[in-house]
Amino acid sequence: MSAYLDAPAAPTAPGPAATSAPALPAPLPVLGTDVDVPLADGTEVPYAALDYAASAPALRRVWDDVAAYAPYYGSVHRGAGYLSRLSTDLFEASRRTVAEFLGCRPDDQVVFTRSTTDSLNLLAGALPEGCEVFVFETEHHAALLPWQRTARVSVLDAPRSPVAAVATLEAALAGRDTARPALVCVTGASNVTGELWPVPELAAAAHRHGARIVLDAAQLVPHLPVDVAALDVDWVAFSGHKLYAPFGAGVLAGRADWLRAADPYLAGGGATRSVVRTADGGVGIDWNVDDSRHEAGSPNVIGAYAIASACRALTEAGFEHLAAREQALLGRLTSALAELPRVRVLGLFGEGAHRVGVLSFVVDGYDSAAFAAALSDRYGIGVRDGLFCAHPLVRLLTGAEDGDACGDGPLNAVRVSFGAGTPEEHVDRFVTAVRELTA
Ligand code: ALA
Repeated sequence: MSAYLDAPAAPTAPGPAATSAPALPAPLPVLGTDVDVPLADGTEVPYAALDYAASAPALRRVWDDVAAYAPYYGSVHRGAGYLSRLSTDLFEASRRTVAEFLGCRPDDQVVFTRSTTDSLNLLAGALPEGCEVFVFETEHHAALLPWQRTARVSVLDAPRSPVAAVATLEAALAGRDTARPALVCVTGASNVTGELWPVPELAAAAHRHGARIVLDAAQLVPHLPVDVAALDVDWVAFSGHKLYAPFGAGVLAGRADWLRAADPYLAGGGATRSVVRTADGGVGIDWNVDDSRHEAGSPNVIGAYAIASACRALTEAGFEHLAAREQALLGRLTSALAELPRVRVLGLFGEGAHRVGVLSFVVDGYDSAAFAAALSDRYGIGVRDGLFCAHPLVRLLTGAEDGDACGDGPLNAVRVSFGAGTPEEHVDRFVTAVRELTA
């Protein structure tokens, strides 16, 4: 597999005792680290946000940039006043910043959406006639479901290694009718296991068979650099709220042709060049063909600017440093959990799989919801429990497939996730909490 899967620096094996681990560089400043939350015993502790995979806290830099811009806020693409023109420039500059951050090709479009889910639904509505879609059963619902409404979908079995993922996709594509357009949708990093998928190899396989590929980068962009051209993916989708920019915007970036040929995602102002009353009493519409074709309505300039601000902040901090720090925290966490016999960490690709700072587990004899509640009530730690909008994958990994709770296998899991703003103390507190709760 490609070096892509080796991108994060190897964990430095700090040893099982969290307290004896070497100090790491400071995290990036984020909001919320000084917020006290109540515990069940009536005391208060600073909140430990370990649910970055759901929504990461805002970077202080993003918040400050948005606050500095706020007085200058104005309408985008629809005002002659100074602040409207300034806001329009800021919105379009944000688009260019995102394109640069993603390593887009010169002809790629960058469409601002509401979220990854919105981006992938947009693309699902832009598929050419007769398009087939290939998607693994392990995907987040945002990547698994949109195509079910607009295309013929082949759902591929869960692979048990990155090599098997490529082989499974090759086998599925080999039998297809190449006269039809096809799209492969794959995640870059699983929102359940955090495991990295072999994106360049999957992209090469898709292209060998005349298919295109869209990367669900929701869990990848906050942790590792994503280069659309180098990965050779056709589109990439992600959300601002996982990228430390929680202001309601997301991104779909990539090839312009399918987007230009498709009906606009929403019909309305801003997506049109001209609208006329026709002689037969109807309405004739000339839609835009640039990025704004799919951005009808007043654009979310603050959301777009916040994403651009996060892109700049992460680039300046350097992903190599952020990823190395995150891997050190992950190593500390995984070696501590490995010592706890009641804890089973979930993984698709087996021992040694590379992952970002996202990890799910089940605890023998403990209901996952109760475990997550105890982390909150007794330690002030916020994690997520459940099926993480990836029901088939979690059911497969917990052994409770098809919603069948037969046997003693747990149905749900607990997920801990972190990133560039996570203080060491949060991970150490989590390790202590899991140790105490499973003792
Ligand atoms: N996709 C987000 C998660 O995994 C909401 O929690």
